[in-house]
Amino acid sequence: MSLRKAAVKTSTIIIIALVLIVIAAIAGYYAGAAVAPAAPTTPPPKPQLIIYHWWTAGGEKEAIDAVFDVFKKANPEIEIVENPVAGGAGAVMKAVIWGLLASGTPPDTFQVHAGGELKEYVDAGYLDVVDSVWEELGLEDVIPETLQAMCKFEGHYYAVPINVHRSNVLWYNPKIFDELGIIDKFGDPRTWDLDTFIEVARYIKENKPDVAPIAMASRNKWPLTHLFEVLLVLRGGPEVYAKFWTGMFDYKNSADPVWAAVKDVLKALAIMAQEGLFNANHPELTWDQAAALVYQGKAAMYVHGDWVAGYFMSVGAKYGEEWSAAPFPKAVFILLSDSFNMPKNAPHPDAVKAWLKAVGSSEGQEKFNLIKGSIPARVDVAPAYPDPYRPETADDFKKSTLVPSAVHGGISKEAFVTEMHNIVTSLVTSAATGADIDTLVDASTTQIMQAIDRTGLPDFWKGYTIDYFITKR
Ligand code: GAL
Repeated sequence: MSLRKAAVKTSTIIIIALVLIVIAAIAGYYAGAAVAPAAPTTPPPKPQLIIYHWWTAGGEKEAIDAVFDVFKKANPEIEIVENPVAGGAGAVMKAVIWGLLASGTPPDTFQVHAGGELKEYVDAGYLDVVDSVWEELGLEDVIPETLQAMCKFEGHYYAVPINVHRSNVLWYNPKIFDELGIIDKFGDPRTWDLDTFIEVARYIKENKPDVAPIAMASRNKWPLTHLFEVLLVLRGGPEVYAKFWTGMFDYKNSADPVWAAVKDVLKALAIMAQEGLFNANHPELTWDQAAALVYQGKAAMYVHGDWVAGYFMSVGAKYGEEWSAAPFPKAVFILLSDSFNMPKNAPHPDAVKAWLKAVGSSEGQEKFNLIKGSIPARVDVAPAYPDPYRPETADDFKKSTLVPSAVHGGISKEAFVTEMHNIVTSLVTSAATGADIDTLVDASTTQIMQAIDRTGLPDFWKGYTIDYFITKR
């Protein structure tokens, strides 16, 4: 064969081979297409609600779960991504939230107290306005003005409140009170003053040495400051209280009358610690563990907020037998309100709006508050309370003088309240070791004066007057 013929033959073979390959490929393609499973289509991501709160103790947990149920019923397609951060009063969660906001990774919504605590996030520019939710639900018609003002800054609403808690309540064990004839001897706790409270505690210690007169839990420090805030209202009245926590007084002058009341309260706390009027293990306990001492008959009294009622219900403690409650003092109502918000750049804004609607709804508020120990933020919702404590406090909310709580984010600045936790805790710790009380009180007073300055407390509420904080009745 000539070279030319051979070349023609080779190229013919190559062409035939190529044609065969192409035919095979096409056939393979169609054959494959016939049997291959359809390419998986990725389902759209399930909408979520990323939420932070600190309700992990008895009563609190069940209460938030009840609102989740209301939300799920209305929004079955939205997955709740819950981030509960243990530590009552947000002792741990608040730092977590500030971290998330500062790093530009906000959740969809988080628990926040109405008032000063909310204002700090607003001032930092982290929150979106939620006026449209207020409007849609007609909340201005059903939420009292005092509470509206605590959710509104620079003319806009930044949160939807779910409840009203009272911080000033005396929880007591009725059996111990009856056995010792406390009410016959000292009168109704609703009218006691600071001296009577100490007298009662001493009387209990003398007559029932196995029982702690006053339950305390200082593991997270704030229950001590909580006692301080209640005793300050008891001693100084609402105006002194409001001036102190806002720094709106002549705080550099030790002769200012606010200091006299503050010193009396510091002294009272030091006496309680030094005379063993608290349960000795208070540095190890959380707020609910201290509440347990009361219904178990290991402590006689506990000055704490009404989430304690929620806790007692959750453990099945019986009202009138294992616990009783008295507004302390009745004439003043130290209020606080848990609310939810919408951070700027929240990943799922539609889910947040749906959540805020559940929070502000009659059904959400009724179910939550029945369990939580608080009363609804909405005055048109009246749950069937299982004990006489809440009807009384709901009535007081309309009739007593109102001031916001400092320890629970209403009236003060977080940095200052944190300093107060440390000052009061070290006062109590030193007093328990037998240090001289007057010296301790003077040292604490100086530390508080410095803390007011250092934390810039008086500037925090610039433009506000003391009347903003007090609803006088
Ligand atoms: C408060 C909060 C209450 C209750 C309490 C103890 O700050 O407002 O709802 O949970 O802490 O955790």
